This record gives sequence, structure tokens and C-alpha cells, in this order.
Amino acid sequence: MAYSTKGGVGKSTSLLTIAQYFSKKGYRICIIDADPQANLSKTILKDEVFKDEYLSMTDLFSAKVDCEKVHKAIYNVTDNLDIIGSSLALVNSEQLVRSNTMCDQGRIINKITQCIEDEYDIILLDFNPFPSLLTTNGFIASDFVIIPTTCDEWAADGVATTLSQIYQVIEGFGKEIKYKVLINQKSRNKDDRAFEEEINAQLNADQLFKTNIHYQAKPFKNKDICVTDFNKGNTTVGQEWQSVLDEIEREVLR
Ligand SMILES: Nc1ncnc2c1ncn2[C@@H]1O[C@H](COP(=O)(O)OP(=O)(O)OP(=O)(O)O)[C@@H](O)[C@H]1O
Ligand SMILES: [Mg+2]
Repeated sequence: MAYSTKGGVGKSTSLLTIAQYFSKKGYRICIIDADPQANLSKTILKDEVFKDEYLSMTDLFSAKVDCEKVHKAIYNVTDNLDIIGSSLALVNSEQLVRSNTMCDQGRIINKITQCIEDEYDIILLDFNPFPSLLTTNGFIASDFVIIPTTCDEWAADGVATTLSQIYQVIEGFGKEIKYKVLINQKSRNKDDRAFEEEINAQLNADQLFKTNIHYQAKPFKNKDICVTDFNKGNTTVGQEWQSVLDEIEREVLR
């Protein structure tokens, strides 16, 4: 899962980079877009999301999870890469579940992932930044949370509130969750270096990815074919991403 209570810090872009890289490496990947903004769904599935027959998290996020329906909502993207999409109406599904006090509201996404976990090596969950029943579901369903942050006070505040949510889920649900903060869109100026030093002082080394990702103009090489430049190792940001991906493979996927 990629999460921060701050918007626009690189959650969806990071997940897309991870999905592209590891699917090409042979890992079987399923992205679950649980963000009503549906950024990844629209980028990857394009017009499919506007069709009447489009099945998405909006149809799956309900009191009773139907594994057959979950399988019908899987769209193949490329070799080893599938997606379950989202739509704006996911907010309505969330409200319906919230009003149903007789169901296990926090474990719906967990049940959805259980339907498909044998078919994939990695399931990647994307959310919008606002704390909600959906994001609580995300924490409960996740083993590992990537917390991207840009180099500013508001994003740092997003890291702090995200960490406090993770601690609440660990305490309240007895769930072990690993996480790491990823400094993203860093510039080569002294303010951003000072930000990095401050965050280094506040967090332990094992709470932070060893490599920071610098700002790269136009990170999408070609939005039509949904390819980020990041996972090509021939740019500085590409090399930085390579070392983050290596760290994920070494420490999360082992
Ligand atoms: N390293 C980078 N350099 C430059 N631009 C970047 C970088 N990483 C992400 N971006 C851009 O920043 C914007 C926000 O990224 P993204 O949509 O991934 O953030 P998000 O956290 O998922 O946002 P939201 O909270 O709205 O879901 C996008 O336009 C993306 O292309
Ligand atoms: Mg996003």
C-alpha cells in the first residue's frame, strides 16, 4: 500500500513504477485502485472505465465479498500485470458499508485480497489521501506501507499523521505493519537538504528508504502507454528508483 494523508506526494506514481518494474521481472502483480479519484484506473484502463459493464472496487466494496465477482473485475494490462479499477462512486459504496453496522467494516479489502492472493506475488493498493473507512481497510489488508513525502512542512505533517494512523491500527487491530518513508520530488537546493536532515533526525534509519527520489520533469514518458521514465536506469531519477526497487525486493519481498 502507498499512503500519506498529504495529497500529490507520489503515491500513485510510486505504485505504477513498482508495478511496471516487478511485473517485467516476472513477479505476478495486481494493482487494486481503491482511490475514488481513479487516477491509476484511468491511466491504465482508459475508456474501459466509462463503459456500462465496467466492474470495479465500487462493485466489490460491500458487506458481503463475492470472490467470483472479484475475479470478474480483474483487467489484464500486460504480462504479469493486472488491475482492479476504481470509480468516483466508490465513495457511495463506502457510505453504504459504513451504515451497515452488522458487517466487519474494516476487513472488506482484506477479504477481497484473500480471494486473489494465491494468484499474485504482489498486490499493490492505492488510496486517496483522506483518512476513511477505505484507508483503514487498506492498513488492515497491508503488510507494508510506502509513505512518500515531498520536501515541505505540509507533507512532513502528512508523514506524522500517517504514522499515527499506522500505530492506531497496530494497537487497535493487533496487526503488524511494516512501513518506510520515501522522500520524493527532492530538489538540489539547501531547503530540501535541510528537510532531509530534519526527517533523518526524526526517524530511525529503518523507517526511511536509503535513497531519495529527485524531481524529474515529466515523469511520464508516454501517458498513452502508461510508462514512467523512472524504471529506466539511465537517468539520475531512474538510478535512484532502481536502488529503491532493489531495497523493496531485498527487504519486503524476501
Ligand atoms: N519524482 C517526481 N518528479 C516529478 N514529478 C513527480 C515525481 N513523482 C511524482 N510526480 C508527479 O507529481 C504529481 C502527483 O503524483 P501522484 O499523483 O503520484 O501523487 P499522489 O500522492 O498519488 O496524489 P493523490 O494524493 O492525489 O492521490 C503527478 O503529476 C506526478 O506525475
Ligand atoms: Mg494518487
